[in-house]
Amino acid sequence: MNKLVINPERTLGHISKNLQGHFSEHLGRCIYGGVYVGENSDIPNTNGIRNDVVNALKDIKAPVVRWPGGCFADEYHWRSGVGPKQQREKMINTHWGGVTEDNSFGTHEFMEFCRQVGCDPYVNGNVGSGSVREMSEWVEYMTFDGVSPMADLRRAHGRDKAWRLPYFAVGNENWGCGGNMTPEYYANEYRRYATYIRQYSSDAPIYKIACGPNSADYRWTDVLMREAARYMDGLSLHYYTVCGEWSHKGSALTFTREEYDTTLKKALFMEKIIEGHSAIMDRYDPERRVGLIVDEWGTWYDVEEGTNPGFLYQQNSMRDAMVAALTLNVFNKHCARVRMANIAQLANVLQSPILTEGAQMVLTPTYYAFKLNSHHQENELLDSRVFTCDSADGLPVLQESASLSPDGTVHVTLVNPSADTARTVQVEALGKADPAVAAEILTGDTAAHNTFENPDAVKDVPFTDITLKSGVAEMTLPPCSLVHIALR
Ligand code: AHR
Repeated sequence: MNKLVINPERTLGHISKNLQGHFSEHLGRCIYGGVYVGENSDIPNTNGIRNDVVNALKDIKAPVVRWPGGCFADEYHWRSGVGPKQQREKMINTHWGGVTEDNSFGTHEFMEFCRQVGCDPYVNGNVGSGSVREMSEWVEYMTFDGVSPMADLRRAHGRDKAWRLPYFAVGNENWGCGGNMTPEYYANEYRRYATYIRQYSSDAPIYKIACGPNSADYRWTDVLMREAARYMDGLSLHYYTVCGEWSHKGSALTFTREEYDTTLKKALFMEKIIEGHSAIMDRYDPERRVGLIVDEWGTWYDVEEGTNPGFLYQQNSMRDAMVAALTLNVFNKHCARVRMANIAQLANVLQSPILTEGAQMVLTPTYYAFKLNSHHQENELLDSRVFTCDSADGLPVLQESASLSPDGTVHVTLVNPSADTARTVQVEALGKADPAVAAEILTGDTAAHNTFENPDAVKDVPFTDITLKSGVAEMTLPPCSLVHIALR
């Protein structure tokens, strides 16, 4: 019999709500269509922002959204996106389809979006094609409350009070699309740029995030930590789950059993690289002051047929929900170093929790994985372990994370990643003699997904098939499933 044992007496770190963050770039239909439709749209909106998307994000307690990129961030000039809309300068979005960016969604609109969702803004500055002055003035524009050229400009544009800007990143992928820099060069640039990101309010400090490594590039982390750790609060990490080659990544919905397994194994590689980067960070920062910020992660397949290849639009299935469930559990388990993570991307791009088409919106299986995981937000991670007698080919038989909420409830997210084998498991929270158990499940065929015609094919439902004997809850998880269990 498989067994999951949780020790509610042994806490291992704080699970920041920000581990369930999002990322929204000016890419394809993420911002335009996915988030912003404009004040004059027939699609129900508040100040141009879709009401359905805002409500969906509130329902999963979306904690933080990163913007404006991605690669777009390093060619974004913020002044083009403020002031009267008719006068905003247009630009070419060279990275993503060469389309015209009219800058109708800029700083004020992003802050308004975050206000409506009730989440924190995370803004990514431009190092690759910007200047120290431009970045410094953007921060002044957003956060200075006194009299200054940028604060006055913000007021002239209709916003009196400074915004709270809790997170700011100095460049994006500066080893690639953000300037093709070496780590040594970027470390110096980071130090220079970060100097001029002024902390105008001692009550609301800005957490400065340096561009970190791509996947398993440990040298980048080593150089950045050695040269610049004392000037940063966080170091980013980007890792995408790509099943095949970059030139042929496979389809989001049509895949073989082997591709399913490969995708999940590659997703679990996240744990290895977090461990690798954390070990390097521990050498320079044993107190774990600097957070690892996984501000881009998710699956990346070939685009859906007939869609613009520069728009990165892909459907989303139970396979993606399994990737999300496994990855979120990994983040929880590594919460001592990982302080934020942002799935790529919020709507209509890569592994999206939300898809939109005109006025319609669909919540994907990934959305429901986030929903079940949201019970862990701001809890204490608990020591937990799966003991198993079954075997699985390279994938864990079951994978879990467990946490303790302030009201004393033990929350568990338990994943059965197998495509075809159900797993019976006994769950025991030590010391909880006779717990009240409530649970929900997300399950389906590996390629099950939601469409605009059939939006509720996959969603979480109550899970009641649990027997409780002497404090031990026994249940059978169907193949390809995620269960959230609350033990009170
Ligand atoms: O998320 C899509 C792109 O992937 C981002 O713009 C970039 O940072 C990464 O390479």
